[in-house]
Amino acid sequence: MNDIGRAAVVTGLGAWVPPTVLTNEELAGRLDTSDEWIRSRTGIRRRHVIAPGEATGDLAVEAGKRALKSAGASSADVVVVATSTPDHPCPATAPDVADRLGLTGAAAFDIAAVCTGFVYALGTAAGLIASGFAQSALVIGADTFSTILAPGDRTTRAIFGDGAGAVYLRAGSAAEPGALMGLHLGSDGSRRDLIEVRAGGSRQRSTGLPAEEADTYFTMAGRAVFSQAVRNMAASVRSTARLAGWDTEDVDRVVLHQANARILAAVADQIDLPADRFPSNIDRVGNTVAASIPLALADACAAGDVRPGQRVVLGGFGGGLTWGSVALVWPDVPAVGPDHAPGS
Ligand code: UT7
Repeated sequence: MNDIGRAAVVTGLGAWVPPTVLTNEELAGRLDTSDEWIRSRTGIRRRHVIAPGEATGDLAVEAGKRALKSAGASSADVVVVATSTPDHPCPATAPDVADRLGLTGAAAFDIAAVCTGFVYALGTAAGLIASGFAQSALVIGADTFSTILAPGDRTTRAIFGDGAGAVYLRAGSAAEPGALMGLHLGSDGSRRDLIEVRAGGSRQRSTGLPAEEADTYFTMAGRAVFSQAVRNMAASVRSTARLAGWDTEDVDRVVLHQANARILAAVADQIDLPADRFPSNIDRVGNTVAASIPLALADACAAGDVRPGQRVVLGGFGGGLTWGSVALVWPDVPAVGPDHAPGS
């Protein structure tokens, strides 16, 4: 990560999804959609959703607890929560999550980069560690998009699910397995309207007028986002592999944000890697936004598809627009997930 050989090293991995499952068939009973449409266009069969009264922070605590357990750690200098569905507009969710994990006193803050949030959070925490300002960090991606989707919007309702995933980082050497080796982040704010919640922020509130109900929900221009996602994730994975000193074909596993099974296939095609190097759990959890990458990673580790010693690139794309990826040699770390799910 820097030229003196100090690096942030992944030593723990945790995952959590809420127990309530929402299947395509159940959705088809409420909306004008079908299991066939959802599966063939996205690869999704089911997703998990929170119960009334639950919030993103609750999922973040569960995933964080499991990442700490996986790492055998009981402290962290920094707690970062990547989310765009925070528990409250103010304050950030991370200080409360840190407190509930027994990490009161840690630097704690949220990062909002929508579906790229986990990669941005990982890069930020890794920078604090590599620079010597912190010794350890808990990085959590958590979102509950079920709370911001319009009840009657079949496109978004079919896609998104709730969940959380986390990794634990400690200071170590750039030569160790688990050391973050290459990081590539980018954005294009001129396309911000492709993924947005129009109301609820200062731009709407400063008008002094109540928000239109439709503007309080999440919207996405699916087709335009699809092509941007493929192009930018493909380019980012290539850049990150190069930064890590690898040829793209030497990458063993590419764990991408799980937005659509067809996007994973298209990225594999663009960078000329076999599709079986792209682990996927989208069929069981849908698009879980900032939680997506660590959840997919935890599932792939539990299934033995991501193994110690493999060259791995983690990559995301989302609202902003934002994108990014990070490279590491996968360490010998147990993934601690929920007992009830995602399962196969
Ligand atoms: O996570 C951040 C990044 N997000 C992404 O990368 C998402 C990228 N986009 C996508 O994955 C896809 O664009 C979607 C899955 C969102 C949509 O799939 P699509 O194949 O691009 O469909 P479309 O939006 O072009 O819509 C095709 C048709 C439309 O009907 P008409 O206008 O052709 O009559 C939609 O109204 O499919 C209709 N449709 C549905 N039909 C049944 C849209 N959603 C549904 C649905 N069930 N759930």
